[in-house]
Amino acid sequence: MPDFDDVVNQRHSSRMFLPDKPVPIELLNEALALAMRAPSNSNIQPWHLFLATGARRERLVAALSAEVQVNRPKAIGGLPESHNRLRRELGALVYGAMGVAREDRDGRWNAQLRNWEFFRAPVAGIVCMHRDLGFADAVGVGAFLQTLLLALTERGLDSCVQVSTAMYPGIVREHLDIPDELRVLCGLCIGYADPAFPANNLRIPRNPVTENVVFLDS
Ligand SMILES: Cc1cc2nc3c(=O)[nH]c(=O)nc-3n(C[C@H](O)[C@H](O)[C@H](O)COP(=O)(O)O)c2cc1C
Repeated sequence: MPDFDDVVNQRHSSRMFLPDKPVPIELLNEALALAMRAPSNSNIQPWHLFLATGARRERLVAALSAEVQVNRPKAIGGLPESHNRLRRELGALVYGAMGVAREDRDGRWNAQLRNWEFFRAPVAGIVCMHRDLGFADAVGVGAFLQTLLLALTERGLDSCVQVSTAMYPGIVREHLDIPDELRVLCGLCIGYADPAFPANNLRIPRNPVTENVVFLDS
C-alpha cells in the first residue's frame, strides 16, 4: 500500500475513464467510510453525495448532454488576474495534452462536452450541501471530498471533481431526486482512468508554498 505522501502526490484529475470497468462497491464503501471522518463545523457533516451508476447515470448523461447543446454554459469570467493566469496555464496544459490547439474552438468544445458525460466514468456523483449553510460549512464539504479522493487514490481508483455538471442544477436535481433544500455544489467522476488518454498522465504544477502561505512571527 502506498504511503500518505505518495497518495497525495498520485491523486490527480482524470478526464477519460474506462466506461466498462466497474468500480468495486466494497472499495467505494471503504473510501466513503474514511471520508466520513472529515472534520466539519460543529460536526454537522454537511456533505451530501448522490452517486449514479447504470441506467440512472445514462439518463442523467443524456439529459445533460442534450441541455448543453441548446444552453451552452457561460464562460467563467471576472477572475482576478493572478487566478486567470493559472486558469490559462491549466487550459494550455490540458488541451495541449489532448492535442487541441488554442485557436481550435470546435476541438475545445468537443473536449469540454465530455464533462457532461462525466468523462465516461461509470460512477457519476453530485456533491450537495444544505442551501442555508455558508462558507465555513463548504470548507467541511471540501474536507470530505479531498479525503474521499485520497481514499479512492489509495485503492487504485481515479477521479475528477467537476464544476461543469453543477452548472445545470435543475437537470441534476430532477434526475437524481435531490431535494430542494440542498444546493448542488459540484460533480464527481469515479472510475478507472483510460491509460491511453495522454491528458490523464498530466501532473498539474502548484505555486511555491510561499505564494499561498504567510508565516507571521512578530
Ligand atoms: C471544485 C472543483 C471544480 C472543478 N471543475 C472541473 C471541471 O468542471 N472540469 C474539469 O475538467 N476539471 C475540473 N476540476 C479539476 C481541476 O481542474 C484540477 O483539480 C486542477 O486543475 C488541479 O489538477 P489536479 O486535480 O490534476 O491536481 C475541478 C476541481 C475542483 C476542486
